[in-house]
Amino acid sequence: MDRTLLIALASFSAVTLAGCAAMRTGADEAAIRAKAIDAMKTSFKEKGQAKLDRLNQDETQALCSQYAGKELPKDVAATIEKSNLASIRYPQDGKLVGDWKRGERIAQDGRGFQYSDDPKGPVGANCYACHQLTKQEISFGTMGPSLYNFGKLRGYTDEMRRYAWGKVYNSQAYSACTNMPRFGHAKILNEQQMRDVVALLMDPASPVNQ
Ligand code: HEC
Repeated sequence: MDRTLLIALASFSAVTLAGCAAMRTGADEAAIRAKAIDAMKTSFKEKGQAKLDRLNQDETQALCSQYAGKELPKDVAATIEKSNLASIRYPQDGKLVGDWKRGERIAQDGRGFQYSDDPKGPVGANCYACHQLTKQEISFGTMGPSLYNFGKLRGYTDEMRRYAWGKVYNSQAYSACTNMPRFGHAKILNEQQMRDVVALLMDPASPVNQ
């Protein structure tokens, strides 16, 4: 089963689950959640690089599922952001900005993790699935805010370059339970790809900033 479908099914089940669980106690809820995960694990088939371990949630994802459809308490959000912030790795040579042209190709590319893709990579980031980035590209999703003129509006400062790196590396560090993937943390992008995507946002010559 491809990854998109897996994710779609997983979120469908999570929503259904949250609906059913609305009237129940915490213990009931935990039992139902365990049963649903079990049902997913027994009904999904592994194919190629798409393994069932993709259904295993880390601590952040488990907490976010627990509060899906409910208001996320401030202290839980703070705990999630703190631990994700601590997980961000910056490059040893301090170089955060690569080549925006390669970054643009990565932002356009949504392939790499499907069962039918070459597991040796590279993997795309599919930023356009959720964000507007340039004026030229008129096909983009709107789940995330427009990033058009990101660097120009925020300023080409070291602080903003570090924020851009950190946000792409681990989005949960700045916004608990966001829908944005954690590109560095989840090893979707490697260090050079991270630099190239940061360049797309932060290089004054990038079409994002024209
Ligand atoms: C599945 C949807 C999704 C994808 C894919 C995605 N994002 Fe996001 N992104 C979001 C959402 C939703 C937000 C707003 C909530 C938040 O801040 O996390 C966001 C916020 C951001 C922000 C913060 C904007 C601000 O005002 O500070 C940046 C920067 C960003 N995304 C960059 C990227 C880049 C670069 C990529 C590709 C490498 C990407 N995003 C891929 C959903 C996505």
